[in-house]
Amino acid sequence: MKYIVANWKMNLTVRESVALARGVLREIRGWQHVPQIVLCPAATALHEVYKSLARSRVALGAQNAGPQVRSGAFTGEISPAMLEDLKVSHVLLGHSERRHLGETDVTIRQKLQATLQTRVTPILCVGESHDDHERGNSVVAIEDQLNAAYHHLEMNADHPIFIAYEPVWAIGTGDTPSVGDIVEMHTFIRNTVAALTSRSISDIRVLYGGSVNDENAYQLLREGEIDGVLVGGASLKLHVFKEILQAGSDVLAAQAE
Ligand code: PGA
Repeated sequence: MKYIVANWKMNLTVRESVALARGVLREIRGWQHVPQIVLCPAATALHEVYKSLARSRVALGAQNAGPQVRSGAFTGEISPAMLEDLKVSHVLLGHSERRHLGETDVTIRQKLQATLQTRVTPILCVGESHDDHERGNSVVAIEDQLNAAYHHLEMNADHPIFIAYEPVWAIGTGDTPSVGDIVEMHTFIRNTVAALTSRSISDIRVLYGGSVNDENAYQLLREGEIDGVLVGGASLKLHVFKEILQAGSDVLAAQAE
């Protein structure tokens, strides 16, 4: 399967979010090969978008979750159990924009642990900074983030594992690593997470994010090491996003031949 996750970030009103979700459903109507699509609207729109997506093949994702499973004195946070209650199936954790706002490795680990106690699938985001990239420290930076997030983590053997590799310098910049560099990093991530979790390599889904668009989606998605893409800016424009979905569908069709 190929996964296409749309991160709408802090954009769109409830009405606009519903319209975009409906537009996505309209685009894929009748398709034989449909990638697994996850739409992550702002928290305010989760419930209404869910109503549009119910009984469709498109899943609902959230952009963040609180550090405790159910409830507690965490003003402004939404717990993983609350997301589950809203029928959210996936949640982004540790996105670089949240790390930039001060979210630490310790908090991200707590959020991951809390989410793993629900049925929601965490998508852990990791990525090296521009500095790390320039100094050739990318692998060490990613390894540190993975070690911190999966340190003594308790998880059910069948809870899906999703990692999104998002180099900070590639997010919203139009700049991306070469496909070869992404593939190499995905292999490293898969091996590292397999060692940390005792899960088999084939159980680990690794997505790429950072300036994915209609022009590069196909060449990324056709790589076996790239299980999917996490799309920010380009997911807000239906005429661009539909081309990314089409790329996913084309790759699945080619694989089925
Ligand atoms: P971008 O964002 O596609 O706009 O680069 C990706 C992300 O932040 O998840």
